[in-house]
Amino acid sequence: MKNTNLNVLITGGAGYIGSHVSELLINKNWKVFIYDNLVTGYEKLINKKAKFIKGDIKDFKKLSQTIKDYNIISVIHLAAYLNISEAEKKKRKYFVNNVGGTLNLLKACKNSFVKNLVFSSSCSVYGNAEGSVNEKQKLKPKSYYAFTKFKSENLIKKYSKINKYNYAILRYFNVAGASMSGKIGEIETSHGHLVKNLSIQATKKKPLINIYGNNYKTKDGTCIRDYIHVSDLADIHMKVLKKISEEKNPIILNCGYGKGYSVLDIIKIFKKIVKNVEIIYLNRRPGDVAKIYSNTYKLKKYLNWKPKFNNIKYILISAINWEKKLLKIKKKKIKY
Ligand SMILES: NC(=O)c1ccc[n+]([C@@H]2O[C@H](COP(=O)([O-])OP(=O)(O)OC[C@H]3O[C@@H](n4cnc5c(N)ncnc54)[C@H](O)[C@@H]3O)[C@@H](O)[C@H]2O)c1
Repeated sequence: MKNTNLNVLITGGAGYIGSHVSELLINKNWKVFIYDNLVTGYEKLINKKAKFIKGDIKDFKKLSQTIKDYNIISVIHLAAYLNISEAEKKKRKYFVNNVGGTLNLLKACKNSFVKNLVFSSSCSVYGNAEGSVNEKQKLKPKSYYAFTKFKSENLIKKYSKINKYNYAILRYFNVAGASMSGKIGEIETSHGHLVKNLSIQATKKKPLINIYGNNYKTKDGTCIRDYIHVSDLADIHMKVLKKISEEKNPIILNCGYGKGYSVLDIIKIFKKIVKNVEIIYLNRRPGDVAKIYSNTYKLKKYLNWKPKFNNIKYILISAINWEKKLLKIKKKKIKY
């Protein structure tokens, strides 16, 4: 009989983080099934050894059929919309996809073999925070995107009692960088991520950097964030999944390195790698909080975990290298 314990469904597996989680799990011999509607995901990012099912998490019939057909034991739920500014304007779109989609997934897991669920939440559920935040901090989502993550977390907790699965809620801080394999990285440009924007500019003759707001109550007026390399984050997913399936206790973990960098800090490092950078100051973006970085005590203790890629210059370089490769692919100088 086949060992189905390693069968894992990754919703949003054709996206940036999902492709890194898939790559790692496949390298460690897990059987990966990717469920994605490709709204911001890319076929190029889908690992050839994964089984791809093109579908929407809002499609209950297709999702429950997929979970049954492939004897799914674990789910890593990453599918969501994540543009913070857009969410402020299109609340219904974000509620239906992020909260409605999560509810649909949980219902689809009912009467299935699913025993473990890992959910990609966000540090934005804490809202405005001064200094480092730990997992016990009261949740005060400020943006609408954060509200959809907050609501989804609550659904996951509630349904764990009904469906009897083990769960992990991972609250990611700012994810950046690209895999050492050189095969995957961030493609989607609509999310407004600083490191992605910098990488795109790094491929231009006259790099132009937009800074959204320089009047926040921070040391230099720009927003402070905690940047985690996507490969370290993928490693956390694998280890957390193993641990919840063994220990059968739920866990909520912050995923960051515990160090805050302002936008200007990052640009200063960027300028050491890329020359002739011009900066433009623009208005604040709706939904952005001033300052947030992670307390990593629980993450390190729970997993006995050490990061491998927590050098901000390395994070930037890996993202820039990926961007240069993307450009060559676009110009058809190399094959994907
Ligand atoms: N990137 C970050 O810094 C960050 C930080 C905190 C949390 N997150 C969360 O991590 C997850 C992955 O984000 P990412 O950065 O990889 O973004 P991404 O856009 O690359 O990945 C999201 C994936 O979900 C898919 N998707 C969206 N709606 C879907 C639907 N209804 N049905 C099926 N597939 C759908 C998209 O096609 C895409 O492949 C998201 O839930 C996001 O909220 C990301």
